[in-house]
Amino acid sequence: MSRLLLLNGPNLNLLGSREPAIYGAATLADIEQSLTAKAAALGHELACFQSNHEGALVDRVHAAKADGTAFIIANLGAYTHTSIALRDALLGVAMPFVEVHLSNVHARDAFRQHSYFSDIAAGVIVGFGPIGYELALTAVHARLAPHT
Ligand code: DQA
Repeated sequence: MSRLLLLNGPNLNLLGSREPAIYGAATLADIEQSLTAKAAALGHELACFQSNHEGALVDRVHAAKADGTAFIIANLGAYTHTSIALRDALLGVAMPFVEVHLSNVHARDAFRQHSYFSDIAAGVIVGFGPIGYELALTAVHARLAPHT
């Protein structure tokens, strides 16, 4: 059993009503409930955290180190494209993570095509909507229990 963290950044609290043609109809609560249940079925404990504030996300990454989190599944929203502070936080705690984006950021605005996280992530999943979080969980589970 491992402790995992689902970390969502700014504006992801608006999922369900935010630009549904891009981000879909599922709410963040839907995603968190479903992923928590799937993690439990795999034998893991999933904590969920969303914030619109960069410093709060940095603090939660630091707390993950202290609470024994083994892996983070992170959609850092627009901070993906801007936040050296969050990059340094993840490097600072040496915590492995999967970078997830609901939309295919490579098919959108040019400024979304650079990520401060992709080169330090265990892997990157983009463009599959909420299923991307499940794909990330599957990958994390395989990484943590490679022989099961
Ligand atoms: C996003 C893509 C980002 O460019 C954007 O700022 C978001 C959501 C996604 O999940 O597709 O807030 O991370």
